[in-house]
Amino acid sequence: MHEQRLVSAQAIGDEDNIDIVLRPIRLSDYIGQEKVKSNLAVFIAAARARKQSLDHVLLSGPPGLGKTTLATIIAQEMGSAIRRTSGPAIERPGDLAAILTNLEPGDILFIDEIHRMNRSIEEIMYPAMEDFCIDIVIGKGPAARTLQIDLPPFTLVGATTRPGLLSSPLRDRFGITFRLDFYGELELAQIITRAASILKIPIDSAGAAEIARCSRGTPRVANRLLKRVADFALVKGNGCIDRESALQSLEMLEIDDHGLDMVDRMILDAIITKFSGGPVGLETLAASVSEETDTLTDVYEPYLLKLGLINKTPRGRVATERAYRVMGLAPRRTMAEPSLFEEDGQ
Ligand code: ADE
Repeated sequence: MHEQRLVSAQAIGDEDNIDIVLRPIRLSDYIGQEKVKSNLAVFIAAARARKQSLDHVLLSGPPGLGKTTLATIIAQEMGSAIRRTSGPAIERPGDLAAILTNLEPGDILFIDEIHRMNRSIEEIMYPAMEDFCIDIVIGKGPAARTLQIDLPPFTLVGATTRPGLLSSPLRDRFGITFRLDFYGELELAQIITRAASILKIPIDSAGAAEIARCSRGTPRVANRLLKRVADFALVKGNGCIDRESALQSLEMLEIDDHGLDMVDRMILDAIITKFSGGPVGLETLAASVSEETDTLTDVYEPYLLKLGLINKTPRGRVATERAYRVMGLAPRRTMAEPSLFEEDGQ
């Protein structure tokens, strides 16, 4: 029930808080990713019928599509507790051993950014996932002994924006893998309408559709835009989000019709004007827009690729003809022309 999770006006300013408040709790509240939802419902029902823990689940996809949300839903639907950590937070093998030995039967262990987990730590994970036990080495040198500790049955839910970076022994130990994809505009409009109703923001269907169109196929972006557009509607308008006020706010936020923001346009502009349309290597491109390479690959590129505005080639990134049109420029004559700044693509 939305009413049970009403938030104060003060909390509306707090992004993290809001994300948690807006997060659906049950699978039936979750909008979109239909195939993932229907398969997950079957796997959860089967695990529950057998009174077993759910098989380990790997969730991959660009940021903001709902990997953490799905992990919390899995815990809720299984009637289990969830323990959260992230790949980079587990620094030493002892950290993981402590987390694993403190699990209760049936717990969900959620590891975000699992591709950033250290290889030496990963090796502890293999027997933990497969046989629910870990081997701990006590002492050093010839006197060292290995102690095997049994663990309660648990479900590892791993989330990653870069499934290709997972080692194959780790990837192979997940019995269930789902790849989350960008959401359609209708789904995003539903997510926005649901969020607006929880946050008590007046919005009509045309206003929700305009925000959805500019949300990069991503619920986290949709909810963030909803809040900012609500600010504009409150201060500059009558407080209600309709098509007119949404369009005006999105223009003030410098988000264009395709949902591209300033950084997206800087990336396209750099490829087109600084590097003659490409190919340009990832590191050179990242440096030219003052962003980290990981931010480019994980946050910006998936959407630019989805819109068909860039292509990845073995020699680097190239702007497509569509990118020239979106940037209001005439496409160059030969797209195969090499750039002066060529380097290996990544
Ligand atoms: N809020 C964020 N993502 C959502 C989703 N997929 N369904 C419903 N509400 C959401």
